[in-house]
Amino acid sequence: MKGPGPRLMLALAALVLTGFALSYWWLGNVVHEVAGTVAIIVLLRHVLNNGAWWRRLGRGRWDKRRVLSTVLTLLLALDALVLCITSVVVSETLFAALNLPGIFVLREIHWFSAYWMMALAGLHLGLNGHRIKTHLARLGALRPTPRPLRWAAILLWFAVALQGVASGGVLGLWPRLSFRYSLAMWDFNASVLPYFLHLGAFVALFAMLGWLAGKATVGDGHRSDAPADGRAPLSDPLTGSKT
Ligand code: HEM
Repeated sequence: MKGPGPRLMLALAALVLTGFALSYWWLGNVVHEVAGTVAIIVLLRHVLNNGAWWRRLGRGRWDKRRVLSTVLTLLLALDALVLCITSVVVSETLFAALNLPGIFVLREIHWFSAYWMMALAGLHLGLNGHRIKTHLARLGALRPTPRPLRWAAILLWFAVALQGVASGGVLGLWPRLSFRYSLAMWDFNASVLPYFLHLGAFVALFAMLGWLAGKATVGDGHRSDAPADGRAPLSDPLTGSKT
């Protein structure tokens, strides 16, 4: 799973499966647990795919961008670990009969870490925008685009991100991200697709924030899209320039 295609497919699958598993009241418990388990396995594969990043942690230069990316990845790793551990402990399929003590609190931690996973994954996607672009270019999926079209795409993304602010409210994600309860419950009997569109807009909002944060923290002498940890720069197949 080393080529750009499988890498991107794996990351996309991790995101889609996590979002899918989040729709508990649509899926029911068994499908939720199966989807969540597959999501965790896919995430683990993604982490292993990027093993070189972990091995390089002790090496190279540290600029603002690298500090930000490292803090975010460690938060994501911590969240994924919490999600993974609580998934096993609160599993109804595995342990319902045991009536474990403190299960209510553990369920809350499980839910809150799942909501945070969507926000952190969005930030992580935005901050890795340069890698996604390079992978897509290597696959031949990106063509040189006129500047006005590129701006139009960014404006569209910005509009979706603004919708993401409202969508976070519709889905009750803002209080839940601050570890508070929300009365917002999506009625899956009424509709399903709009739920996922709202969730997508919410992730797009955080992806835009991650992308902007990446642009704002360009290290000294670094291009905004260059790796900050001393790795050999990749060459961008579109322009031939180094990224
Ligand atoms: C749904 C969740 C996630 C999504 C959608 C996602 C997406 C991505 C994408 C698109 C990339 C760039 C493509 C690549 O080179 O593979 C990437 C890189 C990376 N991801 Fe994730 N990821 C997720 C979760 C995680 C988690 C939980 C961790 C850590 C435990 C993690 C660690 C990394 C690392 C270390 C890199 C390499 C960054 C670099 O080289 O600068 N990711 N991720």
